[in-house]
Amino acid sequence: MCNTGVRVKLIDRYGRLIKDLRISVTPRCNLHCLYCHPLGYEQAEPPGSLGVEDVRHFLQAMQMLGLESVRFTGGEPLVRKELPQMIAVAAELGIPDIAITTNGLLFKRKARELVAAGLRRINLSMDAVTPEVFRRMTRGGQVERVWEAIETAWELGLHPVKVNAVMIRGMNEEEVIPLATLSLHHPLEVRFLEYMHLDNSNPELYRARFVPGAETRARLEAHFGPLEPVEHDPTAPARVYRIPGAVGRVGFINPVSEPFCSKCSRLRLTADKKLRPCLLTELEMDIAWAFAAPNPVEALVDAILIATDRKPAFGNTLPTLRERVMVGIGG
Ligand code: 5AD
Repeated sequence: MCNTGVRVKLIDRYGRLIKDLRISVTPRCNLHCLYCHPLGYEQAEPPGSLGVEDVRHFLQAMQMLGLESVRFTGGEPLVRKELPQMIAVAAELGIPDIAITTNGLLFKRKARELVAAGLRRINLSMDAVTPEVFRRMTRGGQVERVWEAIETAWELGLHPVKVNAVMIRGMNEEEVIPLATLSLHHPLEVRFLEYMHLDNSNPELYRARFVPGAETRARLEAHFGPLEPVEHDPTAPARVYRIPGAVGRVGFINPVSEPFCSKCSRLRLTADKKLRPCLLTELEMDIAWAFAAPNPVEALVDAILIATDRKPAFGNTLPTLRERVMVGIGG
């Protein structure tokens, strides 16, 4: 087991501690959210894509470098049939924090198996409470299914359940109040995300649709009164508050208006075996060679050190044509 290996901290050239890993287990998704999954961008599981043993080796390598948390993303991670085995591997290795980000559509059906494998936490995408608005933003999704996923997560004791809403002007601004209202009586953290240009949308359209987090917050405060700051992990991107008297919380993730690159603690691994030091930079390292090496864990440690060294100081939030859109990277 990896636990016998040397354990060091992974620190990049800007002094950031790298301790969180995101693994995109598939580029496929069963929704087409308009800010994430451009129409026509359909990707099959590439041949030779990340398998369960690859995940094991990668996690072992990261563990030797001080890994604290892993989040499985997609595409939609639940469409990947090996997801439970991948989670089981992370649990077997003793990784303290094992989470997924999912659209929830398949969650009710698969939740028990995932929790038995070792899943601890779940983030769900829910951009609107009103079924018609949700359907428009996801190009056909049913919000009732997300609600079922939330209830299933509670039943199974997954905590905290976080809900992500990407704010798009002209689409879901009116949903801010109903979404935040969910936090009044339910143990949910409802997070409002600034729209990032990761979908290769037309720059003009992107700018027209962008809603600054401060505006979303002002909208909330105009309705509920001043939000109360809540103590939270200062290295995490979300700023967390409570509506006075609420059971749950609301949060703001403002990567565009208030970039948090200086606190970034992440590396990303894609389903096609690329290591991505930054969500908002095109830079990717093809590390298929390391997975295929005679001693993959050792080779992966090397690859991870190189990728960490290449982590840029800042990501690029300006509209640019990107090789890989959000659905292929994972949130
Ligand atoms: N901008 C901001 N957040 C996004 N997400 C997906 N695409 C974007 C984008 N363009 C978030 C969604 C989802 C998670 C996987 O990533 O909130 O929950």
